[in-house]
Order: sequence, then structure tokens, then C-alpha cells
Amino acid sequence: MANTGGASPPRRGSSRRGRRAGQPYPSGGRASGRQTGPQADPVRTLAFQVLCAVSHDGAYANLELARQLGKAGFSERDAAFATELVAGTCRFQGSYDLVIERASGRALNKFQPAVIDLLRMTSHELLSMRIPAHAAIDTSVEIAAARIGRRVTGLVNAVSRRISERDFEQWLDLLAEGMDELGQLALRSHHPRWIVQAFAERLPEPELALALAADNSPPAVQLAVRPGLLDVRDLPEVEPARYSPYGAYAHRPPASYAAVRAGLAGVQDEGSQLMALALANADAPAGPWLDMCAGPGGKAALLRGLAGGNAETLLASELRPHRAELVRQNLAAYSDAGHGVIVADGTRPPWREASFAKVLLDAPCTGLGALRRRPESRWRRGPAALAELAPLQQRLLAAAVASTMPSGVIAYVTCSPHLRETWEAVESLGPDAVEILSAAEYLPNVPDAADGGFVQLWPHRHNTDAMFLALLRRR
Ligand SMILES: C[S@@+](CC[C@H](N)C(=O)[O-])C[C@H]1O[C@@H](n2cnc3c(N)ncnc32)[C@H](O)[C@@H]1O
Repeated sequence: MANTGGASPPRRGSSRRGRRAGQPYPSGGRASGRQTGPQADPVRTLAFQVLCAVSHDGAYANLELARQLGKAGFSERDAAFATELVAGTCRFQGSYDLVIERASGRALNKFQPAVIDLLRMTSHELLSMRIPAHAAIDTSVEIAAARIGRRVTGLVNAVSRRISERDFEQWLDLLAEGMDELGQLALRSHHPRWIVQAFAERLPEPELALALAADNSPPAVQLAVRPGLLDVRDLPEVEPARYSPYGAYAHRPPASYAAVRAGLAGVQDEGSQLMALALANADAPAGPWLDMCAGPGGKAALLRGLAGGNAETLLASELRPHRAELVRQNLAAYSDAGHGVIVADGTRPPWREASFAKVLLDAPCTGLGALRRRPESRWRRGPAALAELAPLQQRLLAAAVASTMPSGVIAYVTCSPHLRETWEAVESLGPDAVEILSAAEYLPNVPDAADGGFVQLWPHRHNTDAMFLALLRRR
């Protein structure tokens, strides 16, 4: 069987068992205006509504799911089932689309959009969750009748039955026929081909499949304490992070920690923590620090605590006002004597040139390094996003260098290993503006992190997001 996405959801054998007679439908789904048929299983109906919102409204699966679950009042078991349905369906969407096309003999664009969402979800139940075929198909037909329209029930029934005739491996074998090696890897790892290509350019061949597989397991939640305000050993029910002295794996939902509620700790991947730590560790002249693209402020909070120890101050700047507000909230536990938060476009900075001793540029990027976190994201953006982001990254990096005082240090960070967003961005500065520091030396306890003079973390190696770091000293 293919990987189901890491979570091990409760099995729900039958649509009848899952249905609660008379219970109102969870509200909020846009494909759900119609309730002409019998009431369908509320848990699967909610998952279907979330999938529709992700496909058609551009919603983030995690946020939309949390929003709808918050209103539904499901048991923990039902919530876990809905979560697996949504996350797994989103993660494997590209493979399921190929299965649906092959099983139906129709191109995907010949289907009504809500039918595609429903068939994707049914594919996940049948092929990855091993739900008995009769249960998965019956419920899908019920959802089709209740939420899309009776006229599509025959189609949903027929295509679902065709899908159930093979297991996932058999479908993948069939679909892989005639594909080249890269295409097969993309298919079997449930990634778009352009992303597999991008990873292949950055990794030794034996690691490629491991890196792709790591994207299919949701990460454990990690917390970071605010340096100077709380010691990580004072967090209850956590396991220390591997490399960051400020990080820990949470064993409970983050909001259940008093320290998180008090702003003394926040949710942050260890890779992100290490980026801020490396900059803090670098030698630089005395002077204020700048976080140029700070929202929502996880790294700014770490920098604020670490800069505070050196009696420096931090300016956190962010383009979007609502994200600047999140930065303020993330820094709220610290005295504002040591920091400021402003709304500004980093490509047209309001501060004077050469003002800062250390500058963090955590650039807007494709997020290819955090695919395990956002199940739908790999299918949402194509390579065209690079054409838009790479020039912006280069303009921001040039502005970051100009903002740094001579001998000051710039940390250029992306949550993407793509060459265009990493090496090529640094190369765009030319040879004269900066000296490339050996970034891995500033994270001495992190193994296998050096990537030329840069640092490249990987989920399969470090259990972090695939963060890239260049440390540059202004000449
Ligand atoms: C990768 S995120 C930063 C994450 C942040 N450093 C943290 O650790 O929480 C990139 C941020 O850059 C912001 N941004 C995009 N274009 C910008 C610009 N021209 N100037 C400043 N910020 C920008 C985005 O709104 C986004 O909040």
C-alpha cells in the first residue's frame, strides 16, 4: 500500500455507523448548499466541504479543517478521521487525478469540480485508507446526492466502482507504464514532476526518494521558547529538540501549554530556529539588527531574545500590516525598549543604508521545503511561481546587503531548496558585494548541513523543514 500520509486514522467501516440521524450538517462549505437527498455521513461531508474550499476558494487545508472542525463538535476519533481524509486526499491529489482519469476514461476537466473533489476523497478512502469499498462508495453516492445533485450519483457510483477494482499499487503500476524514471518517481512519491526535478538537482541520488517520502509524513509539532524569558527545561511534557537549545517537541496541543498562552514560547520548526541562531552566532560589529521580512515573527522572537542579551536592538519589518501585527504579538512578551515593528516594503526601505550590524532576510519563497506541513501546497503552485519570486528575492537580497554596515552579516534564508531561490539568488549579488561565510560553522552541532558554503537542511536528514541559509559578510 502507498503511504497514507503518516497519521493512522481510526477506521470507520461503514457509512451507516458514521451517520448520526437527525444531526444537522456542518455548515460553511460552498459546494454544500443543496440538501435534496438523504443526509450523508457528517464526518465525510465535512471533509468533502473542506476539500471544495481548498480547490475552489484557495483555502489552506489545515486552517479550513480546523475552522470547520471547531464548529462541528466531533469526537476526537471522528476529527482524526476527517483530518486524514483531508490531508491524505490533498497530499496524493495528483496521483488520484490520474487514477480518476484512467478509471473513467475522461479527462479531469470534463468533470464538474465538486465531483472531482468527491472522487479524490473516495480514491483516498479506497486506495490509501483501506475503507471497505461498499462503505466508501455508498457514502460518496450519498454525499453526491445531498451536496452536488442526484444527476451525478450514477457517475460517482460508476467511477468509484472502477477505482475500487485495483489497489493503489496496481493503479500506480498501470499508470507508470511508459513513464521515464523521473516521472515514475514523481508518480510513486506523489509529487509534481518539477519538484522532483528540483530536489534531484540538490540531493545525491540515493537520498532523493527519502526526501520525497519525508514530505508525505506530517511533522511533529515543535515549540521554541523565547530566549531570556524561559528555559526549554521548564516546559512540561516535551522532548528536547535535536539541535536547537531553545526548541522542543510538543507532546500536547500547543495551546494547552501555559507558556505558549503567555507568549513565552511559540510553535516553530527547528529548522527555522537554527536559521536565527546561526545569524545570532555570527561575529559582527556592534549595532542594531534588522529582520526584513518578519511576518509572522517566529524568527524575530528568537532574534529579539538573542539580541537582547547583547544589549542590541531589533527592528522587525514586514510588508503586510496584518502580518506585522502578528510580529508584534510574537514579540509582546519582551519589553519594547529592545525592538520596533514597522510596516515597510523591503525593496524600498525607509531606513538609511548601512544601518544594521546583522540583517535577516527570510525571503518570500515557494515553500518547497515545507511540503510536509501543507498537504495541498505541492499541487497549488507550478514552476511559474519561481519566475515571480526569484526577481523579488534578488531585489530584497540586494536591499538587505545595502542595509548592512561594512563587516556586518546578512542571513539569506528560504524555506526552499530550489536552486533559483538559493544559490542563484546569492550569485545574483556578484562577487564584489559580499564574502560568503561558511554557514555550517555557525551551526556546529548540526551534521550533514553544509552545502558548499551554505547550509541546506532536509526533513529526511534533520527532521526539519528544508531550510536554506547563506551567511554573507558585507565587504
Ligand atoms: C517566509 S515569510 C517570513 C517568515 C518569518 N521570518 C518568520 O519566521 O515568522 C516572508 C514574509 O515576507 C513578507 N514579504 C513579502 N514581500 C515583502 C517585501 N517586499 N518587503 C517586506 N516583506 C515582504 C511576506 O508578507 C511574509 O510575511
